[in-house]
Amino acid sequence: GAAELGPYRHYMQKEIFEQPRAIADTLEGIEGITPELFGDGAYSVFKAVDNVLILACGTSYYSGCVAKYWIEAIAKIPCQVEIASEYRYRESVPNPDSLVVTISQSGETADTLAALRHAQGLGMDKTLTICNVSTSAMVRECKLAYVTRAGAEIGVASTKAFTTQLAGLFLLTLALAQTKGRLSDEEEAKHIKDMRHLPAALQAVLALEPQLIAWSQDFASKENALFLGRGTHYPIALEGALKLKEITYIHAEAYAAGELKHGPLALVTSAMPVVTVAPNDALLEKLKSNMQEVRARGGVLYVLADGDTKIESSEGVNVIRMPEHYGVLSPILHVVPLQLLSYHTACARGTDVDKPRNLAKSVTVE
Ligand code: G6P
Repeated sequence: GAAELGPYRHYMQKEIFEQPRAIADTLEGIEGITPELFGDGAYSVFKAVDNVLILACGTSYYSGCVAKYWIEAIAKIPCQVEIASEYRYRESVPNPDSLVVTISQSGETADTLAALRHAQGLGMDKTLTICNVSTSAMVRECKLAYVTRAGAEIGVASTKAFTTQLAGLFLLTLALAQTKGRLSDEEEAKHIKDMRHLPAALQAVLALEPQLIAWSQDFASKENALFLGRGTHYPIALEGALKLKEITYIHAEAYAAGELKHGPLALVTSAMPVVTVAPNDALLEKLKSNMQEVRARGGVLYVLADGDTKIESSEGVNVIRMPEHYGVLSPILHVVPLQLLSYHTACARGTDVDKPRNLAKSVTVE
């Protein structure tokens, strides 16, 4: 009811603003990395695995896509991510030494549960879930679990569940790296320090809301939008496009920026806003040339740029400056302005933000 909403207009807005608290709760009490964060016996499971297979749907699938970059770069373990509804019906090659990781806010999504059971049926018994509901079927049926503490998520479009999943998946990456002897004490300490700073960093990103309200005025009248990102921010672009589709009904697509010239560039005109996720990482110069390709076709850019990227606003280039560059945890921060952009665009279009048409919060039937 209205009382629970407090100063917010919708649950989605409330849940976006709860993210500093949700992340703090999810990481509470963590003084150091140990496999046992995922349950008794996790050390011997992690020791035995040589591969990670992530299974999920929707927004949870995109958190898995971010984790793939982390797990391969930091833990140096091959990782594949599959859409649960594809995996469960595909003839795949089972690897008994895979760590099967399901990701689910509800822990009850039919396809994700069926994909888990399918993997188990193929002889893969090293299972772990990142889940927001401790009493769910997913937690019961997996050997290991990390329960995120986002709290109840009511808005159909997932927000705080996504960022807390990322926090859990980062912990998993570090625990795997440690088990494999690929995490020094100094690295561990640095990552813990950065994770502790996340709530404050998220708060600073939430303070950008007025600038996203301004962008939403431009987006409200559009029927198409393109989202670009590279590396760990490619799945963030995918999640940004999904959020826009779900609640504003604007057609949105996300592309890995390097793929621009292999198709989507043909769609770029002044009627096509191009949202670009631009962290100051190793791919920045590549991304800048992708942005020029868009400008050369008259496309209008909306850039979420880290402070030190030297990307400035100019004709056809609208820049919102992120408060700080956050290294490997940057995707957790960059998704927040995309949530706010979709939310305020939906408000401007007058759609039913918390209950978008045709969608359900938890898809428990196939
Ligand atoms: C539905 C929801 C999404 C969610 C997806 C997976 O489509 O609307 O927000 O990402 O299901 O749900 P899960 O509970 O498994 O994360």
